[in-house]
Amino acid sequence: MDTLACLNTRYSVRKYSTKPVDFDMLVEIVHAGTRAPSAGNTQDFRFIIVTNKTVIEELAYHCMEQIWIASAPVVIVAIAATDLAEQRYGLRGKRLYVTQSTAAATQNMMLAAHALGLGSCWIGAFEEQFIADKFGIPPGYRPQALLTVGYPDKLQEPRVEKKRLHELLYFNRFGMPFKHPELYFNEYAEFVRKQAKNEVFIPLKALASRVKTYLSNKKKGQESQEEETKKK
Ligand SMILES: Cc1cc2nc3c(=O)[nH]c(=O)nc-3n(C[C@H](O)[C@H](O)[C@H](O)COP(=O)(O)O)c2cc1C
Repeated sequence: MDTLACLNTRYSVRKYSTKPVDFDMLVEIVHAGTRAPSAGNTQDFRFIIVTNKTVIEELAYHCMEQIWIASAPVVIVAIAATDLAEQRYGLRGKRLYVTQSTAAATQNMMLAAHALGLGSCWIGAFEEQFIADKFGIPPGYRPQALLTVGYPDKLQEPRVEKKRLHELLYFNRFGMPFKHPELYFNEYAEFVRKQAKNEVFIPLKALASRVKTYLSNKKKGQESQEEETKKK
C-alpha cells in the first residue's frame, strides 16, 4: 500500500477479531513510531506494548468505561518524556513539542498498523494516574495515548464523515476561502477562473488534478510549438 492510500483509507477500529498479532508486526509498528520527527531530534517518546488480556480488560474500565477496548489483543502506551523535552527546550518543550512529537509517533504507528493489515484506535480518554501506576511510569514521563491494535472484526461501525477540504483550508491567510484564484494560483489563475465560471463549486482535489492536466497539456503544447519552429 502506498503512503497516500494508507493515510486516505485508515480509520479507527473499535471491534477486533480474536486472531493474535505476530510479535514482529508489533515491533514493526513501534519502530515506525520511533521514526517520527521530534524537536531537535530529542526522541522524547517511549512506548510500552501490553498484551496481557487481563490487564487490557482492566484498562477498558479506566478509559472512561470504553468496554470495547477489551476486545483488542494489544494496547500500546505512548509516553511523552516531558522532563527530557523541558531540559532541552524549557516550557515550550514541555507543553508543546513533546506533545507534538508523541502525537506524530502515535500517528506513525496507526499508519504502520494499517499498512500491515491491522486496525488501531487512539485512546485519549483514560485515567492518567491509573495508567502511570499500572505500568510503573516514573515522574518526568506522561502517558499521552493508548493505542489499541489488532485485526479488525468483520463488523465495524460505519466510518465517520470527514469535512470537505474547502471547509478546512485557507489560502495565504487565515479565513481566506477559495474565492480569488489570482491571489494564489499565479500563472494558472486564468484557467481556474474559467473552471469556476462553469461550476458553482469544484471540489479542491478535483480542481488540483485539472490544474495538473492543464499544465501538462500546456507544456506539451509549448514543446510541440518549439519542435515546429525548429523544423522551419
Ligand atoms: C487526541 C485523540 C483522542 C482520542 N480519544 C479517543 C477515545 O478515547 N476513544 C475513542 O474511541 N476514540 C478516540 N479517538 C479517536 C477519534 O474518535 C477518531 O480519530 C475520530 O473520530 C476520527 O475517526 P477516524 O480515526 O476513523 O478517522 C481519539 C483521537 C485523538 C486524536
